Amino acid sequence: MSKDSLSITDNRTGKSYEIDIDDGNIRAKQLRQIKVNDDEFGMMSYDPSYENTASCKSSVTYIDGDNGILRYRGYPIEQLAENSSQLEVSKLLIDGELPSKTDLDKFISDIKEFNELPSGMESIIKSFPKDSHPMGVLVSTIAALGTFYPESKNIQSEEENYKNICRLIAQVPILAAYFYRHSQGLEIVQPDNSLSYSQNFLNMLFKGDDKKLNPDLVDAMDTLLILHADHEQNCSASVMRGTGSSESDPYSSVAAAAAALYGPLHGGANEAVLEMLSKEIKTVENIPSFLESVQKKEALLMGFGHRVYKSYDPRAKYLKIAADKVFEITGTNPLLDIALKLESIALSEDYFKARNLYPNVDFYSGLIYESMGIPTPMFTVLFAVGRTPGWLAQWKEFLNDKDQKIARPRQVYTGYDYRDYLPLESR
Ligand code: CMC
Repeated sequence: MSKDSLSITDNRTGKSYEIDIDDGNIRAKQLRQIKVNDDEFGMMSYDPSYENTASCKSSVTYIDGDNGILRYRGYPIEQLAENSSQLEVSKLLIDGELPSKTDLDKFISDIKEFNELPSGMESIIKSFPKDSHPMGVLVSTIAALGTFYPESKNIQSEEENYKNICRLIAQVPILAAYFYRHSQGLEIVQPDNSLSYSQNFLNMLFKGDDKKLNPDLVDAMDTLLILHADHEQNCSASVMRGTGSSESDPYSSVAAAAAALYGPLHGGANEAVLEMLSKEIKTVENIPSFLESVQKKEALLMGFGHRVYKSYDPRAKYLKIAADKVFEITGTNPLLDIALKLESIALSEDYFKARNLYPNVDFYSGLIYESMGIPTPMFTVLFAVGRTPGWLAQWKEFLNDKDQKIARPRQVYTGYDYRDYLPLESR
């Protein structure tokens, strides 16, 4: 009869061990009983970059990377993108269920209550040089925001946590928009509570430029935010949970997560894709030589590949269609032709086929942002605005998970054994 356990024989000692299987997995800590000598620490599993290690149990987001499936709390991303709104999706991610009308209205009104930065933040934002990278500013100002709310350290209080969740969802876009206006030498636009979340965000960026506030572009922005709202245990979500695990306040944890997002292998890829298309490839004719350099490992094809998806990223699939709707309003982006050709050539080449490399969310999002009039360095900021509810949902789940403690990986030490200090003159 089959048993939910794993039998391991250590060929060094001939000893056998029985390890429990729970939900198809083993607890790494059970490996510690495997030792050659009693005084040893015991066996660990070595897994750099956590390629095969589950750090938590989660019911927030489901991904089937082989089949290109992404669901938030069970709902397919395509249905949410088509029918929902960023704030409804935020509530879903954070609380686990689609809200009733009363609950959603209350959530929206709680968020609107925080639609104002504390006095003092505006001068902090304006103290940054105008040409600072907006992600550097966002990371710093989210952390700075927390200093205005020292009570946010009380993470044992559900009421306090709820307040800070709402405040972060409300104020991360305000931080983003204020710095954008400052960087452009424009007057700051105050939040407007008569507008929807995405309408208010675009209004804070572009007030007075009616073309950029077209209702269809507002809808497109909302869809983009939904598609970016969560993506299970990616680099920044893991940082959010890891930072939160030392009981840091949520502002510090979101700032840390945003810092992780900034890198070009994660959320920074949307900016890198635009740079690659406009500055490196430049014309359709240059695609073959660029792809040759990628295959020689001299460059990465930005916006391609994913740790989890080994087929087309469903977010990219949806965005490719959404892009057409945006281009109908804004006029087509000349870089689109290069992107489409690049994709079709790459997908037909053995290098990409053998490695299951497909476009990810960042491949087309930048083209849409650019057409909407958003400057390239702001792209990752938009990703961060969209992802903030997801980070907070992951954080809330972490706080309520009795299995979790402070994150503290082990290492396999490969350094020197004991040695005595040598005075400078003897080295
Ligand atoms: N261009 C060229 N080669 C690639 C690429 C790429 N974009 N991505 C992976 N490879 C190759 C890689 O060199 C390796 O080749 P080999 O087997 O010969 O050593 C193989 O494919 C497997 O790749 P990996 O680096 O082991 O994969 P990973 O899971 O560690 O990395 C990734 C995932 C997303 C960091 C990587 O695919 C990448 O650097 N992509 C470009 C950056 C990018 O678009 N990032 C956005 C990710 S989606 C948005 C988000 O959620 O953050």
